[in-house]
Amino acid sequence: MNNAIEIKKDTYWIGVNDRRTHIFENYWPLPKGVAYNSYVIVDEKVALIDTVERSHMDNYLDNLKEILQGRKVDYLIINHMEPDHSGSIKNLRYLYPDLTIVGNSKTFTMLQNLYGPSNNLLEVKEGSSLSLGKRSLNFYMTPMLHWPETMVTYMPKDNTLFSGDIFGAFGTLDGGIFDDQVDLDYLEEEISRYYSNIVGKYGVPAQSALKKLGGLTLEMICSTHGPIWRSHISKIIDKYDKWSKYETEEGVVIAFSSMYGHTEQMADAIGRALSAEGIKKIRIHDTSKTHPSYIINDIFRYKGVILGSPAYNGGIFPTMETLLCELECMGVKNHVLGYFGNKMWGGGAIPRFKAFAEKIKWEVVSEPNEVMGAMKPTDLEQCKAIAKAMVEKLK
Ligand code: FEO
Repeated sequence: MNNAIEIKKDTYWIGVNDRRTHIFENYWPLPKGVAYNSYVIVDEKVALIDTVERSHMDNYLDNLKEILQGRKVDYLIINHMEPDHSGSIKNLRYLYPDLTIVGNSKTFTMLQNLYGPSNNLLEVKEGSSLSLGKRSLNFYMTPMLHWPETMVTYMPKDNTLFSGDIFGAFGTLDGGIFDDQVDLDYLEEEISRYYSNIVGKYGVPAQSALKKLGGLTLEMICSTHGPIWRSHISKIIDKYDKWSKYETEEGVVIAFSSMYGHTEQMADAIGRALSAEGIKKIRIHDTSKTHPSYIINDIFRYKGVILGSPAYNGGIFPTMETLLCELECMGVKNHVLGYFGNKMWGGGAIPRFKAFAEKIKWEVVSEPNEVMGAMKPTDLEQCKAIAKAMVEKLK
């Protein structure tokens, strides 16, 4: 069965749904799967824009051949070299040996390193244009969104932007492929999680890209993942603008690690105190159960963050260490922080939290407390004090 869909005259979506892969980039959970979107423009010349992950290559190439009815692919435009989009290049070259590969200088270095030497390369730069006949394609560099070679391709005739990973989302395309055909409420977390997990480190490059692309007339944005945007273009652009400026809402994420429940007891006490102070958006996560992907996504959304961990072998608990490393690596900005610990003897979590706060440059709302085992009445008062100090910063 051919799954290709004509999205504009002679322009087709030929993406695939992946419901088998559990974790994206071998790290990020995919509870709702993911789609790899590729597009083909059939003009006097045929241009393919990005490919799909190699595990889905057979169906993809069959669909492509059926659309082309014996014609060959003249150009492969590579907006992004990550293998979920470049995975079919090797086989495309076998199938269409005269294919010209279009990318920028950084693309070609990666192409060589991933798939070996290539001939028929056409290098484009910022503002370069390529004629396909009735249509032309213009290229804009969007470095570090989210790799150094990333670029986007704009087709002025149809006001269509092929945006690579930008404006992408986790989640398969179930039924429809356009934003007005799919259930955006169902996909909401997968859209924001894709941004926060994959693009989130690159807020400054995202702002630069938004400014650069702001002058284009856009009727359709075709990303490499998630729905094609045509009815909610301003909505997704506004979301990107907000996220990449690290704008947050009033609310608090409490993430804790706990071996025997005492640190969790403190987390719950702080949560209750926050609620008593009028905070409604409170998200409490156990780092041993919830993947950092979801905790980071909530942290991108809410301004307040409170972290708690028991001492573990003289340091911090391993799953909390993973979360801290992720946040440090991403350099998430614009948050206020509270933290607390639990110990049976020498402690260990508090110095790590202090180092984290200094590295990530979040304002610390109050002095931390480190409880010995189960909470006593005085410990409860200290938990309430953390909540009160947090609320004062949020209100
Ligand atoms: Fe969807 Fe960065 O690859």
